[in-house]
Amino acid sequence: MSQISVEQIGAVLVLKLDRAEKKNALTQEMYQTLATKINEAAGDFGVRCIVISSEGDSFTAGNDINDFANNPQMDEGSPVFNFLFAIHNFPKPLIAAVHGRAVGIGTTMLMHCDIVTANPNSVFSMPFVSLGLVAEGGSSYLFPRLVGHAKASEILLTGRSFTSDEALQMGLINEISEDHFGAAMKFANTLAEQPPTAVINTKALLKSGSHEALNQVMRAEGELFRMAMDSDEAQQAFMNFLMKKNKG
Ligand code: COA
Repeated sequence: MSQISVEQIGAVLVLKLDRAEKKNALTQEMYQTLATKINEAAGDFGVRCIVISSEGDSFTAGNDINDFANNPQMDEGSPVFNFLFAIHNFPKPLIAAVHGRAVGIGTTMLMHCDIVTANPNSVFSMPFVSLGLVAEGGSSYLFPRLVGHAKASEILLTGRSFTSDEALQMGLINEISEDHFGAAMKFANTLAEQPPTAVINTKALLKSGSHEALNQVMRAEGELFRMAMDSDEAQQAFMNFLMKKNKG
């Protein structure tokens, strides 16, 4: 079972993370399903926009830590790379509707979205350094450009979380709404009604300054991330999480 639910509502493709019992922690299979659906939607004239959201009480707890501990494939062509490059290259509007926890890639993926709505209860975090890892998903490039070096360093190096209000102030999200999904669908339907070629060309122009640089940064991050995963620092952090879990 892919644990991604897929529904087309008019011209909007809705992809929902559907592994609520594990806080929507992302497995290899989930990344690959998302990548495949996003790439298919890129060439489907019937889809004008994607909304990514989730079931349960969390957007996502990030990468599945059991997977991390089992040394998954992380290089080019791996499911996580395929997902990251699918969202980086998606030519149509990509919208996220966030509620609850958005951990790790749950926050970095938002930097590739064109519109993000969030419930007031959302909590964002990128605890890569705390786990002995490094920033990923293009965040080492995109985040300082969004919030400035000082704030990006503070958040990425300490791993501290931040609220919807702070995310709105930063410009990471567009709108806070109790009905985060409804707000995302409203944006999606508005964009789906716009002339599609003008939307695609304008998105491409907005991204043209960063697109090639991001290709390189994401590959460099991936290389360091892979090395970090084998480190004692990271293996210890994964064990700490898994042991806490086993203690119940
Ligand atoms: N990988 C694998 N399993 C995860 C997970 C993850 N990233 N996040 C949560 N889970 C699992 C838990 O092990 C638990 O499983 P169990 O019911 O079989 O014991 C279940 O999901 C519920 O999680 P729990 O920790 O009990 O929920 P919570 O509400 O107390 O806390 C979080 C939610 C997201 C704050 C907490 O689960 C967490 O910190 N997760 C790890 C986040 C992380 O570091 N991700 C990696 C980012 S790079």
